[in-house]
Amino acid sequence: MYLKKIELKNFRNYEKLEILFDKKINVITGKNAQGKTNLLESLYIMSLGKSFRTNKDIDMIGFGKDYFRAKSTSIKEGRELEIEISIGKEGKIIKINGIKAERNIDILENVFMVVFSPEDLKIVKDEPEKRRRFIDRELCLLKPVYYKYLGRYKKILQQRNSLLKQQEINEDLLAVWDENLAEYGAKIIQERSHFIEKLNVISRDISTRITNGKEKLEISYESNVEKKESLAEQKYYLKKALSKNIKYDIFRRNTSVGPHKDDMILTIEGIDIRRFGSQGQQRTAALSLKLAEIKMIKEETGFSPILLLDDVLSELDQERQKFLIESMEEVQLFITTTELNEELKKHLWKGKIFLVEKGKVTKMEKI
Ligand SMILES: Nc1ncnc2c1ncn2[C@@H]1O[C@H](COP(=O)(O)OP(=O)(O)OP(=O)(O)O)[C@@H](O)[C@H]1O
Ligand SMILES: [Mg+2]
Repeated sequence: MYLKKIELKNFRNYEKLEILFDKKINVITGKNAQGKTNLLESLYIMSLGKSFRTNKDIDMIGFGKDYFRAKSTSIKEGRELEIEISIGKEGKIIKINGIKAERNIDILENVFMVVFSPEDLKIVKDEPEKRRRFIDRELCLLKPVYYKYLGRYKKILQQRNSLLKQQEINEDLLAVWDENLAEYGAKIIQERSHFIEKLNVISRDISTRITNGKEKLEISYESNVEKKESLAEQKYYLKKALSKNIKYDIFRRNTSVGPHKDDMILTIEGIDIRRFGSQGQQRTAALSLKLAEIKMIKEETGFSPILLLDDVLSELDQERQKFLIESMEEVQLFITTTELNEELKKHLWKGKIFLVEKGKVTKMEKI
């Protein structure tokens, strides 16, 4: 699968743009604040239907404009796949091969993409929320029904929390929320747990290869709810945990147990590298996670995802840069960088280099 073309209208600082990409490597160069990340963002929305850097869709509309439209053409299994997204007065409209999608989640499972930015390099040492977001993003891509579970869970959690903030707490209503919360929470715990098990196997192998066998990364699931085999049992335990903590929750006016507190434990030789890892170890682990993400998508869906590297290469040392690019032979790559240095050029064997200036592609060169 690869992206062949993008057409933009009023997308961020691109008033109008149409470009044809290379099947293999696309390097987007330009000075700061010219539109490199904006361009990657316009590609990424074709995968999840939303941005990787904001939850506010309207932020992507060009300043002073009242809508944007982005249309991509990909080649998947030899056939053209056209996805169009527009955001404007009527909200979000998604068209797949010219047909309007009924639900936003219909966009999933069409184009698979993974984005890797300097933010992701911090995923290991940052707060648990970043790791949860990593898991969720991946699961949504792999399993659209998870997207639904997560949406329901978050909504119920919000309702439960606002109930806890009231002066008089209606316990009957609380019981209803707990029942629903446990229902969706249990599904989320099970999906995450399976996902992390697979992720562990793949990223252990990758980290061993990056470090020539010196560092073996181990990943496990950390939840404040006891992990159970069956869904029914999981729901029962989550409900029990919720009711056990009810006094505390009322006191804190917040929900203290459940998958919204989950985390991933990352260790090397038994040492928790979230807290005690060196910067190099944390970066290698982050890179392993990302590469594992790509491999999992390939294994589960049969499609090699498209990889977007936003400013990330300059943050990695030569050896890791080389490893990253060389392990991506089957994958279409989009790389943004302010400087295309000679070292990096050596790794690029085939593709196109674009120069972006003030929301316009002003130059294109073939490698
Ligand atoms: N909705 C919008 N409408 C118009 N312009 C926008 C919008 N949102 C952001 N911009 C502008 O787009 C410009 C380019 O942003 P972008 O993040 O793509 O830069 P970049 O080339 O990736 O730079 P850097 O190298 O610093 O990462 C910025 O000047 C920003 O102010
Ligand atoms: Mg940028």
